Amino acid sequence: MEKIIDLRSDTVTKPSPEMRKAMYEAEVGDDVYKEDPTVNELQEYVADLFGKEAALFVPSGVMANQISLNVLTSPGDEIICERDAHIFHYESGSPAALSGVQLNPVKGENGIMSVEQIEEAIRPKEAYYMPRTKVIEIENTHNRAGGIIQPIEKIAETKKLANKYKLKMHLDGARIWNASVATGIPIAEYASYFDSVSACFSKGLGAPVGSIIAGSNGFIKEAFRVRKAWGGGMRQGGIIAAAALFAVKNNLERLKEDHEKAKQLAKALAEMKNIEVDLNKVQTNIVMFGVKKTTAQAFSRKLASYGLLISPVSKQSLRAVTHLDVNYADIFNAIEIIEKVQK
Ligand SMILES: Cc1ncc(COP(=O)(O)O)c(C=O)c1O
Repeated sequence: MEKIIDLRSDTVTKPSPEMRKAMYEAEVGDDVYKEDPTVNELQEYVADLFGKEAALFVPSGVMANQISLNVLTSPGDEIICERDAHIFHYESGSPAALSGVQLNPVKGENGIMSVEQIEEAIRPKEAYYMPRTKVIEIENTHNRAGGIIQPIEKIAETKKLANKYKLKMHLDGARIWNASVATGIPIAEYASYFDSVSACFSKGLGAPVGSIIAGSNGFIKEAFRVRKAWGGGMRQGGIIAAAALFAVKNNLERLKEDHEKAKQLAKALAEMKNIEVDLNKVQTNIVMFGVKKTTAQAFSRKLASYGLLISPVSKQSLRAVTHLDVNYADIFNAIEIIEKVQK
């Protein structure tokens, strides 16, 4: 059977033989007693990489975000986020359901909110009848905007604003690895502007499961309590932490390759008559493109009939994501299939 080229997401990767070996050989203990040496090593490694005091391994990116928001807020509080943020669209209403807080989504440009917009969204302190603004949340890279990188100067300005209004900052850094590799800005520098940072091992880094939260000792102590309360205590978690540790040590720098592949794909798409793509927006491993002659659903189905999987994201647009399990030949073949289908 011909190889299926799966560009739906960077979450579809399967662990490599080397990664599986690291998992097989992992030393484990009971992490609910904080006795799993591999989990502890991963947490220390990432805390150090992120320039934070401590870190906590959790099962997923959603849990990482939701625990962070829970620790930073009290019921009745409000979180400012961008209108296309993952926490707004794809986390099942959890801020309300789990923490009794609401989101105040601000429509940014390509996923980026201006400081003026954020300031406007902050509730006046004296307005007792309004929710209390507590957190500014930023997603980097921004998924729905197409892997857009948040400019570091904007983040720094936003941090100043947060200080002025005594607000907390949370970074949804599911793909902060991609932002760092693309810009050369260390993750610790990005993280320095935030009280809490979430990041995923199960996306571009290629681990099968797992995410991390990083922050101060006090923050992580609280996060540890909430993780247990929400059923996220993982006992011999070292088996999966070993994959995450392998991923962060071996697969970080190679994200550059994914970015190159995305650019290569986007450039070819830009040449096609019935496809629309904005090359300026292809900054990491995600390529958003529009179809002119048909719907995204129909286009996606047609591609699938040739063995190419790309998800529709709206009526006319699709999202292709490059990752560890697609090589340059796959990109070449994907281009050929899209060329054929768009005619
Ligand atoms: C920006 C962002 N945040 C959080 C998540 C959630 O990660 P998970 O699916 O591991 O819960 C995702 C997943 O795609 C994401 O893209």
